[in-house]
Amino acid sequence: MAKNNSLIVIITAFLVQSLIFSLVKAASTNITTDQHALLALKDHITYDPANLMAKNWSTNTSICTWIGVTCGVRHHRVRVLNISCFGLGGTVPPQLGNLSFLQLLDIRNNSFSGSLPDELAQLRRLKLVNFMFSSFHVEIPSWFGSLSKLQYMFLNNNNLVGTIPLSLGNMSSLQVLDLSFNQLSGTIPSSIFQISSLERLNLSYNQLSDSFPSINFNLPSLQVIHFKSNSLSGGLPSHICNYLPNLKMLALSRNMFDGQIPSTISKCQQLQMLSLSYNNFIGYIPKEIGNMTMLKKLYLGINELQGEIPHELGSLARLEVLSLRNNILTGTIPSRIFNLSSLRMMDFTDNSLTGNLPPENMCQHLPVLQELYMSGNKLTGRIPNNLWQCSNLQIVSLSFNQFEGSIPRDIGNLTLINQLFLGYNNLIGTI
Ligand SMILES: *[C@@H]1O[C@H](CO)[C@@H](O)[C@H](O)[C@H]1NC(C)=O
Ligand SMILES: *[C@@H]1O[C@H](CO)[C@@H](O)[C@H](O)[C@H]1NC(C)=O
Ligand SMILES: *[C@@H]1O[C@H](CO)[C@@H](O)[C@H](O)[C@H]1NC(C)=O
Ligand SMILES: *[C@@H]1O[C@H](CO)[C@@H](O)[C@H](O)[C@H]1NC(C)=O
Ligand SMILES: *[C@@H]1O[C@H](CO)[C@@H](O)[C@H](O)[C@H]1NC(C)=O
Ligand SMILES: *[C@@H]1O[C@H](CO)[C@@H](O)[C@H](O)[C@H]1NC(C)=O
Ligand SMILES: *[C@@H]1O[C@H](CO)[C@@H](O)[C@H](O)[C@H]1NC(C)=O
Ligand SMILES: *[C@@H]1O[C@H](CO)[C@@H](O)[C@H](O)[C@H]1NC(C)=O
Ligand SMILES: *[C@@H]1O[C@H](CO)[C@@H](O)[C@H](O)[C@H]1NC(C)=O
Ligand SMILES: *[C@@H]1O[C@H](CO)[C@@H](O)[C@H](O)[C@H]1NC(C)=O
Ligand SMILES: *[C@@H]1O[C@H](CO)[C@@H](O)[C@H](O)[C@H]1NC(C)=O
Repeated sequence: MAKNNSLIVIITAFLVQSLIFSLVKAASTNITTDQHALLALKDHITYDPANLMAKNWSTNTSICTWIGVTCGVRHHRVRVLNISCFGLGGTVPPQLGNLSFLQLLDIRNNSFSGSLPDELAQLRRLKLVNFMFSSFHVEIPSWFGSLSKLQYMFLNNNNLVGTIPLSLGNMSSLQVLDLSFNQLSGTIPSSIFQISSLERLNLSYNQLSDSFPSINFNLPSLQVIHFKSNSLSGGLPSHICNYLPNLKMLALSRNMFDGQIPSTISKCQQLQMLSLSYNNFIGYIPKEIGNMTMLKKLYLGINELQGEIPHELGSLARLEVLSLRNNILTGTIPSRIFNLSSLRMMDFTDNSLTGNLPPENMCQHLPVLQELYMSGNKLTGRIPNNLWQCSNLQIVSLSFNQFEGSIPRDIGNLTLINQLFLGYNNLIGTI
């Protein structure tokens, strides 16, 4: 009992001490500090065509009435600074780091440039930083790692250079990280995959290289990984889907990944979109993809995939988009594929597929099909007359095959069609 009491005394003393410490710290700044910080920002605005700041950010009025500024109800200090889309140009002054109660900092879609001052690391209460669509041409500062309450970090659509700091893995509350559309290079630090709160990760459209970062922790929150248009290489690690039970989107197109597509990809059972196109994948399409039943979009085009299209893909009942174009696929198109009633787009362009189009009523089984691309294969036989009953078809490309027979008059029944390619076959007759 005495032992417990002394423990309570120690804990209480500790709590009181930390309370005093934070009070002292908060007392060292006040609303006047916030005003100085905002006036420093105003001073650093070099372009303000609408004169918003000049007119509105007047010391005659409380900063809490200034446009873009929101103060907290209790502490009456600046809680939100949102000057997004004001059309401003300028730089971020170090004094902004004195807005000690700031939670949301949104300066997106202006033309801020210059550095991201180290003093911003003092903004320990920050939950959101939105610097997207600006003109920052610097490295990502490593101090971001110390913002342990940050949930949303948008630095996309700038001119950021250098590497992604390892310290970002220390942002233990981060949910969304968007660094897309910059000029970041180097490795993707695997420390990012230590953030258990992470939900969306977008590093697309950079110059990142090396291999897919390793994942060693279960990440049930992670739903979106976008690494599109980088220079990533090597194989796709077979273990990743062990740790990503709720991943919904995996976009890896326009990289230099090679090797086989691991069959273990099917362990990402919640995937709705899988894009592996524009890489150097070889080997067969894993039949296990057929049991990723949530898939709506499957892009495997522009690789070096060979062999037959697995008939298991015919089990993907929710599939809306299937693109296998520009591979070296052979054999016939499994008839079950023509039974996927959600398909809007089917693209088999430039493979070596053989066989006929299904003679039975395609449109009845593909009621929402809009785009059908089959050109550049070795398909034979007649073009089934019922194809012209698919009233939703907008694009039909069957050129560069070995189709034969006559072009039917009923072709004119496709009222929505805007592109029709039938050339370079053995067709006869005029429309
Ligand atoms: C803010 O604090 C400074 C000193 O740190 C003090 O001079 C000033 O009067 C305070 N302003 C308000 C509004 O409390
Ligand atoms: C501030 O208030 C003074 C006195 O009321 C006034 O003369 C001045 O025009 C005001 N300035 C602005 C920027 O509103
Ligand atoms: C500044 O803008 C805010 C929001 O539009 C407005 O409520 C306030 O009256 C304006 N203040 C001045 C001095 O123009
Ligand atoms: C900032 O303001 C814009 C425009 O009003 C709004 O769309 C956006 O959600 C705001 N940002 C934050 C973080 O609240
Ligand atoms: C940026 O803001 C301008 C107005 O200042 C608007 O026209 C444009 O659509 C915005 N762009 C983005 C990407 O939000
Ligand atoms: C605010 O920030 C600046 C620059 O970081 C610093 O010089 C100043 O002392 C800070 N404190 C106050 C109360 O303005
Ligand atoms: C992450 O935080 C830990 C604990 O504060 C620290 O030791 C480590 O150096 C940090 N890592 C990076 C890369 O900043
Ligand atoms: C990054 O990816 C996410 C998830 O798909 C998407 O919502 C977001 O628009 C992307 N960002 C940009 C700048 O394209
Ligand atoms: C997926 O398919 C493979 C082989 O086709 C099978 O071994 C595996 O158990 C299936 N997984 C699920 C979750 O159905
Ligand atoms: C396509 O579906 C129809 C009706 O659901 C069924 O009768 C037919 O056997 C299916 N064909 C294939 C190849 O799965
Ligand atoms: C095309 O339309 C004509 C006139 O409406 C109709 O007689 C013909 O059966 C239709 N052809 C097909 C294949 O649906």
